[in-house]
Amino acid sequence: MKTLALSLAAALAFALPAQAQSKYPERPITMIVPFAAGGPTDIIARIVSENMSKTLGQQIVVENVAGAGGTTGITRAVTAAPDGYTIAMGHLGTFSAAPATYPGLKYDPINGMQTIGLAGGTPILIVAKKAFAPKDLKEFVTFVKANADKVNEAHAGVGSVSWTTCTLLKGQLGVPKLNSVAYRGTGPALNDLVSGQVDFMCDQIVSVAEQIKAGTIKAYAVASAERSPALPDVPTTKEAGLPEYQIEAWNGIAAPKGLPKDVVDKLVEALDKALNDETVKKRLLDLGTVLPTKEERTPAGFAALIKRDADKLSPVLSAAPKQ
Ligand code: MLT
Repeated sequence: MKTLALSLAAALAFALPAQAQSKYPERPITMIVPFAAGGPTDIIARIVSENMSKTLGQQIVVENVAGAGGTTGITRAVTAAPDGYTIAMGHLGTFSAAPATYPGLKYDPINGMQTIGLAGGTPILIVAKKAFAPKDLKEFVTFVKANADKVNEAHAGVGSVSWTTCTLLKGQLGVPKLNSVAYRGTGPALNDLVSGQVDFMCDQIVSVAEQIKAGTIKAYAVASAERSPALPDVPTTKEAGLPEYQIEAWNGIAAPKGLPKDVVDKLVEALDKALNDETVKKRLLDLGTVLPTKEERTPAGFAALIKRDADKLSPVLSAAPKQ
């Protein structure tokens, strides 16, 4: 009996630290969105975090901290205390493109943060204001080449996805510089595209799908291998005559480096559950999001994706004009 009591006490002693850790989260969690409200990052963050909150038993409060192509918000998030109460929804721009575009970047997406997982793939579309003269992608290419000094391109700041993907496009067209108009996110940029203040942009499907369907803006092509089920009438760049322009964007969650393992596990589990939820899935799919694979939902799988795309983008972006 005495032996049993002793081993019970020993078991309890071992269980205590785990029990103390497992209290996370005890208060609301802040998810920093490094762009303005209404853009793709904000939309995905709000859909996913609402469901994650239910699993975690604490609200995830989305905070928009825009500026410097998303790097202001990500810097704040990944240099916060590694306690799980500050996380961020970043993307291809902030995690894979920014190191090549900001030499003094204050965070290191490869070695200096804790990845949680990918939240969604976001196909890229070349979209324009309704009244923009070119009728299709071939005409767009000819028009932009002939009018590089007149065409206005909207983006969400150097290093953002819209900037990165249009920088690749301009490089391929041989027109590295257009009149660039930088916004605090493609949410506000889209408002100006709809009202005709700017000519075109390259944007993630999530925020433009509804406007394309409503006919308030036009889409020339999706830069993916396949058409998006959310926009079946929009051709791929290959079909529309620019096969070399292929780029996949994505959004995913990261946190400061040094997060306790049990906190990482809880966040990973909450993200996975959110992405398995039928309502979340439908909302994301309706907006054209590509659901992540099991592997991409893991910290290691997401880290590998960040590195793969950073390696791919870095040589092109380091040499590109930062405007
Ligand atoms: C946003 O949420 O506004 C976008 O993801 C910005 C961008 O990177 O183009």
